Amino acid sequence: MSTAVLGLQWGDEGKGKITHLLAREADMVVRFNGGPNAGHTLIDRGVKFGTHLIPAGAFYPGVTSVLAAGMVVDIELLSKEIRAVADHIGETPRVLLAENAHLILPYHRTLEELEGSGARFGTTRRGIAPAYRDKVAHVGVRAGDLLDPETLRSRIAWRLDLLKREWPASEEMQAYSAGALAELLLAAGKELREGICDVSPVVDEALRKGKRVLFEGAQGTLLDVDFGTYPFVTSSTTTFGGIGPSLGIPLPSIDRRVGVAKAYLTRVGEGPFPTELENPVGAGLRERGGEYGTTTGRPRRCGWLDLVALRYAATLNGITEIALTKLDVLNELDEIRVCTEYRIGGRSAERYPLSGERLARCEPVYEAVRGWREALGNPTSVESLPKAAANYVRLIEKKLEIRVGIVSYGPRPEETIGTTL
Ligand code: GDP
Ligand code: IMO
Ligand code: MG
Repeated sequence: MSTAVLGLQWGDEGKGKITHLLAREADMVVRFNGGPNAGHTLIDRGVKFGTHLIPAGAFYPGVTSVLAAGMVVDIELLSKEIRAVADHIGETPRVLLAENAHLILPYHRTLEELEGSGARFGTTRRGIAPAYRDKVAHVGVRAGDLLDPETLRSRIAWRLDLLKREWPASEEMQAYSAGALAELLLAAGKELREGICDVSPVVDEALRKGKRVLFEGAQGTLLDVDFGTYPFVTSSTTTFGGIGPSLGIPLPSIDRRVGVAKAYLTRVGEGPFPTELENPVGAGLRERGGEYGTTTGRPRRCGWLDLVALRYAATLNGITEIALTKLDVLNELDEIRVCTEYRIGGRSAERYPLSGERLARCEPVYEAVRGWREALGNPTSVESLPKAAANYVRLIEKKLEIRVGIVSYGPRPEETIGTTL
């Protein structure tokens, strides 16, 4: 039986915690999109980790972690993460990296700076868009090239030649040498070599044998390159539909599709945000929720839960179950609002807008509910939450017509309702 964990908002929903919890019962954990723009926080045996590339399965001996072709990988960072996890768990985790996954090179980050997309879109400045762009423009470098130094050097030389001609005035760009970059990658990827392979048959076989495969999504549905708030999006498919092409196998039947959503909403980076709270209530959510980027340290913008967006995201992914996180962050509020409708030009917007510009013109219509103004204690079921908190969970279920199967009320694994520990 396989499971997918997907973000339903603008990322940082708490996917790291939820995937780490569910990975405990998996045989294989597959990350299928994005790169080190992701920052997934999890607490393993009391130690807090902020992971960017390594799947959460790596924390459990015996679980195979797979980085699929749809990812873009910074090989130095991945090697570092593997070493850190190995030190923590006392053995080297089994990590497989798709030979056809593309690599992020230092010049991708330079390119992102030169083009100014960091400032314009509030990207994570990890070279994500340039790396994905090189991939579709036939000038990328792939993990498999690490196994063939000659090909690696010539691919880098080819790309670098174009870049140097495009950016004659950039000292940083002009200073790169193909040979030195190849050496850097080969050295960084040395310990990983054995794990670089065609991962498709491995995942296919695991699925066929009925192994428990967990797909770990990065980013969130509203950052999807096609269905997010374009152009304020990331460069990969962040939805359920991204799993098939990333693996190169027919989209497997994944019965359990867990959509992770915060009990409120955050966004890091630029782009429209109809329910944003640029006031003390928003600042309070940021402080209580520790809403500072795992990857960049940037303060996250905070606002009320947006059920219009959530319904859209749940539908796009065919979500079967919601994991509602950070309920505890709402503890001190007298009143909580949820957005139930958008108005645009005085009329109700029928569908979630596909463009960032149109979303910017949407006005949220709110429903207010009573807060609970108390600590949540150690609840083991939704019924054992304070009544107003349970009502809040039930309201979300009712509006979305999807079961809330998991409720998270703190960063630690044990602060969770609905998963078997
Ligand atoms: P991800 O990118 O979706 O994995 O989320 P991040 O790790 O970037 O951000 C989620 C943050 O919230 C992390 O600091 C988590 O430790 C924390 N967190 C997760 N679940 C809860 C929760 O239920 N309550 C609180 N207070 N913090 C949580
Ligand atoms: P996780 O997996 C939150 C955002 C960036 C920016 C936009 C494009 O931790 O949820 P990029 O560097 O991808 O080209 O930036 O996407 N973004 C994220 N926001 N969480 C993430 O990942 C994100 N990954 C990218 O802030 O607005
Ligand atoms: Mg994150």
